Amino acid sequence: MSVTILGIESSCDDTSSAVIRDGVLLSNVIASQAVHEAYGGVVPELASRAHQQNIIPVVAEAIKRAGIDKKELSAIAFTRGPGLMGSLLVGTSFAKGLSASLDIPMIEVNHLQAHVLAHFIKETSADEHAPAFPFLCLLVSGGNSQIIKVNAYNDMEVIGQTIDDAAGEAFDKCAKVMGLGYPGGPVVNRLANEGNPNAFKFSKPHIPGYDYSFSGLKTSFLYTLRDALKENPDFIEQNKQDLCASLQKTVIDILMDKLRKAAKDLNINEVAVAGGVSANSGLRDSFLLHAEKYGWKVHIPKFSFTTDNAAMVAITGYYKFLDKDFCPMDAAPFSRVVI
Ligand code: KG4
Repeated sequence: MSVTILGIESSCDDTSSAVIRDGVLLSNVIASQAVHEAYGGVVPELASRAHQQNIIPVVAEAIKRAGIDKKELSAIAFTRGPGLMGSLLVGTSFAKGLSASLDIPMIEVNHLQAHVLAHFIKETSADEHAPAFPFLCLLVSGGNSQIIKVNAYNDMEVIGQTIDDAAGEAFDKCAKVMGLGYPGGPVVNRLANEGNPNAFKFSKPHIPGYDYSFSGLKTSFLYTLRDALKENPDFIEQNKQDLCASLQKTVIDILMDKLRKAAKDLNINEVAVAGGVSANSGLRDSFLLHAEKYGWKVHIPKFSFTTDNAAMVAITGYYKFLDKDFCPMDAAPFSRVVI
């Protein structure tokens, strides 16, 4: 009997639904919310309202594109957390209603675990690119920066994480002060490709172990702008490529220094990257360089699986289904958690 999982993701500002059958992706529909652009960040109340408008058409479209009938679904996997409470409530409540009406089990999914397991999504049954256990995963998004030791689908240890800002936040906040809009990461990436990464020096943290910190970098970036703007009010406009290139280089150096240390100490050379910031071309290049230089076997996700998507929720649901790891009807969302 084949196992067919419907995934639902609504943790932040993307409403997404996907269908996975026996580990193979049949559909992945994402509705992004443009409503936040005017505010320079995600407005939680607007996000939950947009989820309410999107969820029914998005799920219906995912089922339609998968070419299945909803009666063929084996279970419904939904993101229970972490994320925005109002947004999570929409996905969780919808999953409850649908699972009750179809009389099939519900599977709760941890959003961070789902980012890691995105590496196991197959686009055809012949797809064999998944990392081998144990592997290290650098999970970098707008809200998290973690190094995770992945021992099995259901066994992950966070061995390092940020003590303040996340890597994506460093991009977003610095971009905001340069007036580059939100989210800033992709814009910084584009401008960085035209700039000199050694033009400016920003401070790097000295934190023991595998933990990260990005607030010092943010402060040193702000001080550089403040001092330069006193002399030259057009400083940002004239230097934005170099500022972005130097910022991006510093973020990547901070991320890779700790990851290299973890890989060496734990003697693991199978290394993956996941989360929104894994779309960054400089970070991707750095992974490829590490593969060459240190013999790492690297796993870099497809762009469509880097940001929030329900395919990663459905694949996590698939492995939990095989373990019969279902959740009760009264499962409530949670906003904060580690794996
Ligand atoms: O995983 P994700 O989609 O969700 C949240 O954590 O909400 O990550 C979003 C983050 C944002 O901070 C965004 O600026 C960053 O990923 N991001 C990038 C790039 N694309 C997205 N950062 C750097 N370079 C990129 N190309």
